[in-house]
Amino acid sequence: MNDHAAKKSSSGPLRNLEEWDDFVKDRYAATESATTPVTVSPNKKKEEFRNHDAQARACVKEFYRLNHTYQTRDFVLEKKKEFLSRNRMKMGVWEAMQYLNQLVDDSDPDTDLSQIEHLLQTAEAARRDERPRWFVLTALIHDLGKVLCLWGEPQWAVVGDTFPVGCAWSDKIVFHEFFQANPDSRVPQYQTRLGVYEEQCGLDRVDLSWGHDEYIYHVAKDYLPEEAHYMLRYHSFYPAHREGEYQHLMSHHDREMFYWVREFSQYDLYSKSSERPNAEALRPYYEDLIREYFPAKIAW
Ligand SMILES: [Fe+2]
Ligand SMILES: [Fe+2]
Repeated sequence: MNDHAAKKSSSGPLRNLEEWDDFVKDRYAATESATTPVTVSPNKKKEEFRNHDAQARACVKEFYRLNHTYQTRDFVLEKKKEFLSRNRMKMGVWEAMQYLNQLVDDSDPDTDLSQIEHLLQTAEAARRDERPRWFVLTALIHDLGKVLCLWGEPQWAVVGDTFPVGCAWSDKIVFHEFFQANPDSRVPQYQTRLGVYEEQCGLDRVDLSWGHDEYIYHVAKDYLPEEAHYMLRYHSFYPAHREGEYQHLMSHHDREMFYWVREFSQYDLYSKSSERPNAEALRPYYEDLIREYFPAKIAW
């Protein structure tokens, strides 16, 4: 398949989905605790990840306005019904990577990484650090939930830092002020610390704002270990894994497993470098790895 043959674009204010990814990199890369060494490209310094022009910032702000306005509890429950039955198509993992690669938006092909390249870079960084094979594979697939964009979902319903719905929003959530326009702000039950949940009920019982994390978790969970479930499902849950918020909803087990979410986050944040991975050269290695865990086709 020619990766750019069927050029499609995601709908929303971002010129490409990576504008949100770049924004969280800017926001969180500086607070990186770096307890574990991550192999960052020698050609690229952390500071270089921090360059943004004004236009990108305006796009990102508008993106968050939409995300915070429209991610209501009802919206999340509706999307779970719509997508988690997973009867859209059967597709292999590498095939899904190629499918996602159609999403090229307004990226500059000379400087912006394609979707496959971001996935391969993240996986390759984990591989260089001799992470276990399931960890490398999880890194490879972590953003495949972005295929939601190819099915007409707007950007604000695919990417963005995730947060619980049905309870008060943490004021550590970026652009918190935009929640004023969210209809849930007028539902008193949703505006208490616990909302519809119980103290330490465990995140499995908590509905997070809808996006690519929850979707890929459901697609892949039957084939990967529990640590990987956490990495996939909560990798955009920055309010919890970076800001330490929502501890009151997490179980003891969640808190232990968040170790893996934070370990993974380093690769997602820092793997973007100027070295473009050679997808065709890496393909045999990754197809073997995929075969070790996944059947030829999985349900999307
Ligand atoms: Fe992601
Ligand atoms: Fe990512």
